[in-house]
Amino acid sequence: LKQLPEGYKIRPMEPTDYSVLKILEVLTTVGSISEEQFSLQVEEWKLNDRIYNPLVVTNNNDDVVACGMLFVEFKLIHELGKVGHIEDIAVRSDQQGLQLGKHLILALTEIARSKGCYKVILDCDEKNVGFYQKCGYSVAGVEMSIRF
Ligand code: ACO
Repeated sequence: LKQLPEGYKIRPMEPTDYSVLKILEVLTTVGSISEEQFSLQVEEWKLNDRIYNPLVVTNNNDDVVACGMLFVEFKLIHELGKVGHIEDIAVRSDQQGLQLGKHLILALTEIARSKGCYKVILDCDEKNVGFYQKCGYSVAGVEMSIRF
């Protein structure tokens, strides 16, 4: 794996990282969320950091250019096993193809491993299968949903 570009860093998301919302627009509709609502949500995650592990990638200007979440599910099966879920991965469109997505997925996966998860799962579009395969993931099962 190539290193992150010079000056780029991966770190936990902070309540002041309001610009994350702009990055998430590449993924889906974010809607209107105030700075205060954003920071309260991230603070809530930080209070529950056994479960929520949001990361950001910053560039050499300290701007957030990518973000992603690992949440950890505490189960009964597999002797109180834990499963990691990767969600809401987004790389700013002018920063795609620089290995940022891959570094992010590997970092989130390593958090899951270090917290004792026996697997990590995620749902994605067909068009992103190749990307996740390059991150070590395999196609497994079928995604289903019901929307309200
Ligand atoms: N199909 C096949 N291979 C790909 C794809 C793709 N769609 N995208 C990247 N790759 C390859 C790259 O060529 C690279 O290969 P290499 O290691 O041999 O050089 C490797 O995967 C790593 O690519 P990155 O540069 O790390 O990819 P990037 O930083 O652009 O991140 C991502 C990929 C997250 C899909 C980004 O393009 C993005 O944000 N897209 C829009 C939002 C999105 O679809 N997010 C994922 C939603 S799924 C979820 O959140 C669980």
